Amino acid sequence: MEYIKSPMNYIGNKYRIIGQIQRWFPKRIHTMVDLFCGGGDVAVNTAAEHIIANDINYHVIDIFKAFRERGLQETLYYIDETIRARSLSKENKEAYLEFRDYYNTSGNALDLYVLMCYSFNYQFRFNAAHEYNNPFGAGRSCFSDVMRENLIRMFDRLDAIEFESSDFTMLDLSGLGPGDFVYADPPYLLTCGSYNDGKRGFKGWSSSDDVRLFALLDQMNRQGVKFALSNVSHHKGKRHQALIDWKSDGGYHMHRINFNYDNCNYQANNKKNVTREVLITNY
Ligand SMILES: C[S@@+](CC[C@H](N)C(=O)[O-])C[C@H]1O[C@@H](n2cnc3c(N)ncnc32)[C@H](O)[C@@H]1O
Repeated sequence: MEYIKSPMNYIGNKYRIIGQIQRWFPKRIHTMVDLFCGGGDVAVNTAAEHIIANDINYHVIDIFKAFRERGLQETLYYIDETIRARSLSKENKEAYLEFRDYYNTSGNALDLYVLMCYSFNYQFRFNAAHEYNNPFGAGRSCFSDVMRENLIRMFDRLDAIEFESSDFTMLDLSGLGPGDFVYADPPYLLTCGSYNDGKRGFKGWSSSDDVRLFALLDQMNRQGVKFALSNVSHHKGKRHQALIDWKSDGGYHMHRINFNYDNCNYQANNKKNVTREVLITNY
């Protein structure tokens, strides 16, 4: 099956392993809730009657909403015109920095998307004042033909998704029941992405957040809702004991996911450094 890649290149996105994790997803889903949707790679590739995609990072959610409000043609026109008018390119650092200053006063969501396309590693990094502060992606980042194609392909799926932006505990999931499905891809306690360094104006991720999430998933289990949780159980010699204990206490199932296909031989020889990606399900 061919999957749609989000045009965000979101850090920690599940695009590379979507087939492996979806193998464990329920075959028929009424309502699917993607609690930590990030760039949306999982939500846009999941078939369900109703999809809710949530992320605390409202900057990203606002971009999805802006895409939908403007429609495909107007969005592409806006992006192309902005790139032209601002002389953005892989080489023009000055234009990038000027545009970044402009965005930090205008706050326009589509401007943020364009800015991100020219930034270092396409990251959504904000300082405590919620100013975008990611450096220039010199020589590498741009709104490429591939990103344009990904954007176009994703557009068809956006109408089917309801976007929310809040802490995962603030969503009202009390109406979910058998036939519904919650997917959770939180920041991983043992690794670190730039969205969980606590510096972007959003609080970082700590073991107490894991505990809150485990409690919510236990609650889903009591409601008869199926869930799948992505995480890492081992990383650089560390073991996520709380995760493993929670999984055992709940009688849940842990499936191994091969994230680093390219490095498998290397990893086998360096057991101490192994990062073990897992998917925990209650079914
Ligand atoms: C691993 S990323 C999700 C990536 C996503 N599955 C994808 O494929 O692009 C984790 C996400 O959790 C979000 N997040 C962090 N704390 C959160 C919270 N308390 N409530 C909801 N979302 C949160 C971050 O903003 C980040 O986008």
